[in-house]
Amino acid sequence: MSKISQAKEKLQVQEFWTAKQKQSHSLHYAVSYRASFKPELPSFFMQQYLDGKNKTVFDPFGGRGTTALEANILGHKAIHNDINPLSLFIAKANQYIPTIKEMELELSKIDLTDKVQINDWDEKNLSPFYHKDTLKEILNLKKIIKKENNPVLNYIGLTALSRLHGHSDGFFSVYTFPQISITPESQNRNNLKRNQKPEYKEIKSRILSKARRSLKDSLPPFFHEFSKKNLFTNEDSRNLKSITSASCDLLITSPPFLDKVDYLKDNWLRMWFLGINEKQDITILPSVSDWSNFIHLSLKEFYRILKKGSYAVIEVGEVTQGKKIIPLDEFVVKASNNTGLRYETTFINTQKFTKLSNCWGADNNEKGTNSNRCVVFKK
Ligand SMILES: C[S@@+](CC[C@H](N)C(=O)[O-])C[C@H]1O[C@@H](n2cnc3c(N)ncnc32)[C@H](O)[C@@H]1O
Repeated sequence: MSKISQAKEKLQVQEFWTAKQKQSHSLHYAVSYRASFKPELPSFFMQQYLDGKNKTVFDPFGGRGTTALEANILGHKAIHNDINPLSLFIAKANQYIPTIKEMELELSKIDLTDKVQINDWDEKNLSPFYHKDTLKEILNLKKIIKKENNPVLNYIGLTALSRLHGHSDGFFSVYTFPQISITPESQNRNNLKRNQKPEYKEIKSRILSKARRSLKDSLPPFFHEFSKKNLFTNEDSRNLKSITSASCDLLITSPPFLDKVDYLKDNWLRMWFLGINEKQDITILPSVSDWSNFIHLSLKEFYRILKKGSYAVIEVGEVTQGKKIIPLDEFVVKASNNTGLRYETTFINTQKFTKLSNCWGADNNEKGTNSNRCVVFKK
């Protein structure tokens, strides 16, 4: 039987995990990330494929660290890899979860009103979003986070990332899009159209107010015992040289979908805040055959890293090109040829339409539902 007909035969379609947005641990909602999956997804597969606690769960396209965070919440260690330094910052910041008291103390020690220079670049690119006094506070915080490396400050930085732009008073910016950073030119047009200009927004209280929501659910007492053993790497999925062979018990991941998300352009304000300006090699491949080759080479590398008898779960959304739905799951199965991985099954989780669904690059199908397609392999 060909790999494609096998993929069609071995489908399991069901609502395996629920569509309820807020039922996972509140920590997962500290910051948004383009094309992230719901925490219920890694949670489901950890419960399905791991026997006992203290295992190692690996996500080679880790994004905002959903898999790593959920692994630590469930009592496992994580290996988090992503080529995007923004992803690394977010995932590492989640390694130590401070209390609100620790955050209050840290914020009370830092002076955000210190004199800073707003240069021509800031004026042109940032003043469409921020009042000059808000911008001064952001510039001060940016400088402190870059200079000092302490876990409480990193969590403050993570929370500040989530407040940079959005549509309510809880954000530092004037009304703008929360999911992606739009260009200063579009924001200028937005301001004219809405007859608005940025007002002063004090940032410390907004950071604390958001953190209170992220830290609302109690932390499992063993969380830090596992999170401190996490490994973070910033490498291309085809050559993960810092990760030892046969070192992971389960791989759960979601690769970039063809060219559906532009991580750099959509995150430019966050990149600026973290001072990330080197050129990134984030994979954006519009052609299905180039994408399949990329997945093939990545799967070979995943085979090396998995322990014998362990599973790999590769999630792909329903992606359209023009009017055509591209069955990426079938291409993933085909790409596993000659990698050593054995195809087991494909889980299709159907769920009711949610308004966040388009931001993970997946379109709604005709029945008004969304689906995650998870291809499972075994070593
Ligand atoms: C679909 S997102 C993963 C989102 C993640 N599941 C989450 O919940 O946040 C794909 C990720 O792949 C990363 N990426 C793109 N090309 C890569 C490459 N060649 N090697 C490693 N990571 C890459 C992107 O930076 C992005 O974070």
